Amino acid sequence: MGLHQGLTAIVTGSASGIGKATVQRLLDEGAYVLCVDQHTNEQLDHDHAFNLAIDVAEDNAAETITAAAIAQFGSIDFVVNNAGMVGGSSIESMDTQIWDRIMSVNLHAVFKLSKAAIPFMKASQRGRIINIGSVMSTLAGAAMGAYTSSKHAIAGLTKTLALELGEYGITANYIQPGAIITGITQPAIESDPQFSEFWINKSPLKRLGKPEDIANAINFLLSKDASFITGHGLVVDGGVMRQA
Ligand SMILES: NC(=O)c1ccc[n+]([C@@H]2O[C@H](COP(=O)([O-])OP(=O)(O)OC[C@H]3O[C@@H](n4cnc5c(N)ncnc54)[C@H](O)[C@@H]3O)[C@@H](O)[C@H]2O)c1
Repeated sequence: MGLHQGLTAIVTGSASGIGKATVQRLLDEGAYVLCVDQHTNEQLDHDHAFNLAIDVAEDNAAETITAAAIAQFGSIDFVVNNAGMVGGSSIESMDTQIWDRIMSVNLHAVFKLSKAAIPFMKASQRGRIINIGSVMSTLAGAAMGAYTSSKHAIAGLTKTLALELGEYGITANYIQPGAIITGITQPAIESDPQFSEFWINKSPLKRLGKPEDIANAINFLLSKDASFITGHGLVVDGGVMRQA
């Protein structure tokens, strides 16, 4: 019997990296999963997995996603807002369209999907919202202003959700991954040896993270064992933030 037997989940950004590993873990634990990604992922060979190809930042995407989950499952227990993107430049030279796009995907879509799912999650016995922040929800990086701002805002949004939804037994938490080997970091890992070297050296565990490291943390926060944890930002970074 899995940890989430028969419960229903929406996972955005499900086609790659952290989202893909999370979907696999939730299926292993007995959940039904609506896998949401802008790229049509090949249909997972699993009776409990359903795909929806959509850009989460599109108008009405949140309503389309929740309607698909309700049509398929009749309930929404878990929302994992994971879809995200990097990009941009220094604030001075930032293209405002790129700024807007990063904010739309990394922040506004998270707000909209959480808002649309709340009425359904109130009926759940184990409502859980997990938003994917970053170590950049706490730290900052030059030329990463849009990403940093969006991930800081994820902390504020999630803390607010925790305060507003506690009375319904719904918890809201965010994860702060460090450097994880995924589609987002692959170009830097491949083109710049100093990228991996920097993050590996900063970690007392001396390695980059794997998508499963984050999926494990998400799985814990979704479990019954985490029912008294809410409004929390869980750092899963191999210790890099502890390095002066
Ligand atoms: N990889 C890291 O080092 C790292 C560190 C901190 C935080 N994160 C966060 O983890 C989350 C997942 O990223 P990842 O590292 O697994 O990268 P990834 O590129 O492997 O996966 C991201 C997935 O999200 C999807 N996606 C992106 N924009 C979308 C949109 N507008 N609509 C629908 N789907 C969309 C992509 O198609 C892709 O499948 C992101 O929010 C990212 O900011 C990653």
